Amino acid sequence: MARLYLDAISKRFAGTDAVRAVTLDIAHGEFLVLLGPSGCGKSTLLRLIAGLEEPTAGRILLDGNDISDEPPQRRDLAMVFQSYALYPHLTVEKNIGFPLRSRRQPRRQIADRVAEVATVLGLGELLDRRPAALSGGQRQRVALARAMVRDPGAFLMDEPLSNLDAKLRSATRAELIALHRRLGATFVYVTHDQVEAMTMATRIALLNGGRIEQVGTPEELYDRPRSTFVAGFLGSPPMNLFDAEVRPHIDGLRVTAEGIDAALGIDVDSAIDSATSTHVIAGIRPERLRITSDISAIRGQVTMVENLGSEELVHVQIGDAAPTAANRTVVARAPRPAGVRVGDAIGFAVDPTDIHLFDPATGLRLTWQRPPSDVPLGAHATAAVPVP
Ligand SMILES: Nc1ncnc2c1ncn2[C@@H]1O[C@H](COP(=O)(O)OP(=O)(O)O)[C@@H](O)[C@H]1O
Ligand SMILES: [Mg+2]
Repeated sequence: MARLYLDAISKRFAGTDAVRAVTLDIAHGEFLVLLGPSGCGKSTLLRLIAGLEEPTAGRILLDGNDISDEPPQRRDLAMVFQSYALYPHLTVEKNIGFPLRSRRQPRRQIADRVAEVATVLGLGELLDRRPAALSGGQRQRVALARAMVRDPGAFLMDEPLSNLDAKLRSATRAELIALHRRLGATFVYVTHDQVEAMTMATRIALLNGGRIEQVGTPEELYDRPRSTFVAGFLGSPPMNLFDAEVRPHIDGLRVTAEGIDAALGIDVDSAIDSATSTHVIAGIRPERLRITSDISAIRGQVTMVENLGSEELVHVQIGDAAPTAANRTVVARAPRPAGVRVGDAIGFAVDPTDIHLFDPATGLRLTWQRPPSDVPLGAHATAAVPVP
């Protein structure tokens, strides 16, 4: 069993707050991915869990026990680094068995356990080789085997795939998912790669400047990003974000911007004062923009078409005016051929539920709530409620 609880953990290096009051409850058997841009504190957070860094504040609990002061070797955790950190002069067999030898287990027992783990990871034929004679993927598996051999409660992995080429990375991703399923152990996995996070995680914790921006399943983060940061980090290309106005409308809300006029069927009262208007940031994912030649909610002119093979990215300058700001261009992702060319005037149809709204001041997601019936109509017309 390994349930990890990070209790308001912080780490300050000289002048840098690398990790800021992170609280995170990681259940036994989870595949939790720490995701975020370079320098956001992922490695520091993982090293804090491993005991390789001392927290400035906060506690770490493993199955309810405070392990904040335990040295790394006393924690029931195994760490796998990006660099593999194999001993070059030792064979694969000796590398894998190292953690058991240093714990002075009987030789027979070590040999059995090494053979068992090597079989699971397909390293049985390579036990006599030295690391120099292995491919990157094989070295990575030896590093994993060395972590597995002790049968730890949790695996901590820091970008373990980033030294592999694209093909091997995707194969190893699938292996790790299968391994996690087979072992049933807790995995805490650091990456800056959103594809790794989306495909492997049971939950993602997205970090931004040492803080947790959002924690949830991959679907929750992708479908209901809590902020413009999350919306802009996940998705390739990321969510289109643009300044817009919302005002109450007969069917709900109306979102307008240059070249955009979309009704949102959100549950607000139809009799609300239509003069009230609020500035927002509106967001639409590229794959949710459907190209149409009809008069539609979003109109513009094609400025570029990128061929991705199976799909095309269609860049469209919105509205009629000359481009003045970057947010006047939206990108749509469509199956190839999208059937449009540079210069074409096109429109997009968009499902009202695919329009996300954010507070321009805080960047936080907004929802609109129907005002309570005892409140005068109009008073809460555009009451923007940040999602907790
Ligand atoms: N040993 C250290 N001494 C000083 N600053 C550090 C140290 N380790 C990390 N940092 C700083 O802490 C921040 C977070 O670093 P890190 O955890 O490595 O980020 P990530 O793994 O997300 O790229 C960065 O600003 C980095 O420069
Ligand atoms: Mg790192």
